[in-house]
Amino acid sequence: MKGIILAGGTGSRLHPITLAVSKQLLPVGDKPMIYYPLSVLMLADIQDILVISTPHDLPQFRRLLGDGSDLGLRISYAEQPKPNGIAEAFVIGADHIGDDSVALVLGDNIFHGHSFSDLLRKERENVDGCLLFGYAVHDPERYGVGETDGNGRLVSIEEKPVRPRSNRAITGLYFYAADVVGMAAGLRPSARGELEITDLNRAYMESGRARLVEFGRGFAWLDTGTPESLLQAAQYVRTLEERQGVRIACVEEVALRMGFIGPEECHRLGARLGNSEYGRYVMAIAEEFAAASG
Ligand code: DAU
Repeated sequence: MKGIILAGGTGSRLHPITLAVSKQLLPVGDKPMIYYPLSVLMLADIQDILVISTPHDLPQFRRLLGDGSDLGLRISYAEQPKPNGIAEAFVIGADHIGDDSVALVLGDNIFHGHSFSDLLRKERENVDGCLLFGYAVHDPERYGVGETDGNGRLVSIEEKPVRPRSNRAITGLYFYAADVVGMAAGLRPSARGELEITDLNRAYMESGRARLVEFGRGFAWLDTGTPESLLQAAQYVRTLEERQGVRIACVEEVALRMGFIGPEECHRLGARLGNSEYGRYVMAIAEEFAAASG
């Protein structure tokens, strides 16, 4: 399975913060926002990842993540000159996807929960068409909203409906079979001129090939769209990290635990982060891991 992180757009709801800096590079706690969606793909055991962003912002992502080899990944980059819709990621990423299945994650979505990696690794084996992840929210009208039959088959999907038919928001993580490239290319742009992700998912639904998996209670899916929600996300992350002494979305740690790199490489990455608390954490994790496996 290939991975795509879509990290474009204008971040206009965060202006002026995002006038000069890409939203997906803003800090959430002690790390850049894109570490969170990147770690989601890594937890799904995906190592081939395409980062899509604006021509203006792409160089900064490249500076941050390089070719991914430090983390045992293969990261490539592609431009989306205009925010022509989330589903355009599959047109831009057609060569990257090839004839493989693909996971798309939005660069501003934060997920955290128990056994998340197990869930992702199980679900990636059952992708026939499209697989969506739903989350109960109190304000579904702000999101894509889905409804399922008793077996998890999607039976309705609407984008930001005025009167939502369920409280199930569709989160910004999507798994597709390889035919997504053709399906996305066949979409008609919406009234806003965008290739809408919800239209793509509806097309799968109409051919009976769309499922929705629920994230249960206790799972966290956080928004970062406004200054208020960005602050709340940072507070959530810091509260858990301080209380438990573990870090959320520490990509070096995820790479180590997924077996993409060894403890020595991990330690080196931590040492490179100089005198930061984050760097010391990475080194400590590498030492612990080496001791436990040695
Ligand atoms: O976060 C989940 C929601 O994401 C879903 O529930 C909705 O169905 C889906 O449409 C989307 O809603 P948003 O209102 O968050 O969409 P927005 O246009 O803000 O785009 C989401 C992110 O994707 C944002 O960080 C910018 C980026 N983006 C968006 C578009 C349209 C791109 O990089 N390129 C684009 O063309």
